[in-house]
Amino acid sequence: MSQSATTQDELKTLVAQAALKYVIPGEYLGVGTGSTVNKFIDALAVSGIAIKGAVSSSLGSTGRMKSLGIPVVDLSLVERLSVYIDGADEIDPRGCMIKGGGAALTREKIVAAQADRFVCIADASKRVEVLGAFALPVEVIPMAAPEIVRRFKAMGADASLRSVNGQTLLTDNGQYLLDVKGLQIKDALRFENTVSQWPGVVTVGVFAHQRAHVCLLGTPQGVQTIVYEATAMP
Ligand code: A5P
Repeated sequence: MSQSATTQDELKTLVAQAALKYVIPGEYLGVGTGSTVNKFIDALAVSGIAIKGAVSSSLGSTGRMKSLGIPVVDLSLVERLSVYIDGADEIDPRGCMIKGGGAALTREKIVAAQADRFVCIADASKRVEVLGAFALPVEVIPMAAPEIVRRFKAMGADASLRSVNGQTLLTDNGQYLLDVKGLQIKDALRFENTVSQWPGVVTVGVFAHQRAHVCLLGTPQGVQTIVYEATAMP
């Protein structure tokens, strides 16, 4: 298969199907958000794998799963999840990610934090050496947005409010979302710790504490499985 013969969409389909082998029948499963996860949801619905229920990370994924007959349960009913399956906007060599392109970062981080294993499904374009080429999503309390924009400016970055069709986007949690350009996040854990403490930040879209344990990376040569468990964080 040559690079030109494989579209990003086809690579997403490949990794979505490959993720089925991480689904444990009879258990609850954490399910993320995005176009790659949508393909995973579609594959799960026709797979014949019976899960006890899915814990969803967004209204969008909940709606899609329910419409396909996948039972969805509230996170409050589940103490631990064995597996959480989600996409990423960028993933670095340690399995740290930028997430939130689909605005679902807060619930994604909450569900991922209750899972023993994060399985990231991504096409090869998401693999980067240093996080930051993709504008970093940060969910914020609206009244804090101007000050948080100023704090990013002081770091040399440019944060702007996300809007859709001319309207400021509200997340599933009723908050604003900033997209931050001009960052180079070499120490993801430190960056996540710092920005998470700024007053008014709900969630920063750097997933270092909740980094991936495994990445199924869709490449023109097939699905590459990258395991990060042995990679120590500083
Ligand atoms: C949703 O908020 C995001 O975190 C997604 O997981 C991420 O944007 C990847 O989405 P795609 O699978 O659509 O690229």
